[in-house]
Amino acid sequence: MISSDPGKPRTGRPLYHIFTRIPDRYDLINHVITLGMDNGWRRQTALACLQDRPARILDICCGTGDLAITIAKLAQYTPEITGADYSQPMLEIAAAKASSSAKGKNIRFINADVARLPFSDCYFDCIGISFAFRNLTYNNPLTPTYLNEILRVLKPGGRFVIVESSQPTSPFIRFLDHLYLKLWVFPSGYLISGNKGAYRYLAESARNFYSAEEMQGFLLKAGFKQATAKRLFFGAAAVYTAIK
Ligand SMILES: C[S@@+](CC[C@H](N)C(=O)[O-])C[C@H]1O[C@@H](n2cnc3c(N)ncnc32)[C@H](O)[C@@H]1O
Repeated sequence: MISSDPGKPRTGRPLYHIFTRIPDRYDLINHVITLGMDNGWRRQTALACLQDRPARILDICCGTGDLAITIAKLAQYTPEITGADYSQPMLEIAAAKASSSAKGKNIRFINADVARLPFSDCYFDCIGISFAFRNLTYNNPLTPTYLNEILRVLKPGGRFVIVESSQPTSPFIRFLDHLYLKLWVFPSGYLISGNKGAYRYLAESARNFYSAEEMQGFLLKAGFKQATAKRLFFGAAAVYTAIK
């Protein structure tokens, strides 16, 4: 259940300015920088979210709503789907997309900070996040707050499904992946968006983010009982499923 007053975030919003400046061309940039693979990766994430037919699903850091909308389209039943993000411009795009491509589905978008989720304890059967877990955990002083909130609103036995950039296991492919981040992701993201800081941050954080094994260890340490990983595109990204 949503509480009536989500209140103010607990201790600031370290990346907020980045995500309120880029929404206009955000989807286009995602397709360009992932060479068109982002939608397929979200589809796999959506299928992992739907595996146990969850009744209530939360897409945190939903951005322009693609994971939540993909879940709504793939579900063979009508789960209650909520997309939450703290960037109002992103949410407006999400709501417009859902009204045309997820008509008749039980889907809504709300403005909320993961540091203070406006839901009662154990409300959701499943939480998904696409390409934003890095934002919540890479050099972010609020990481423990975010993890506590995610665990609080997820039911015992519920799934937390993450798709995120990762590190290819082969040193040679990892070298190529880091080159691609530097020579393709940063310049193309910057050129199309005009926001140098946002895409420098993306390339730098992706280069230094966890490998699949490190991520599994991190999730277990955070308090999840199990954490599995499915590598995508030679390990450049991965879908993780963690069970509370
Ligand atoms: C890289 S985008 C990913 C968007 C979307 N999930 C996707 O697949 O394209 C990161 C999103 O996380 C949101 N975000 C970052 N930190 C957040 C926080 N603490 N609370 C809520 N939203 C947050 C940003 O506003 C942005 O929309």
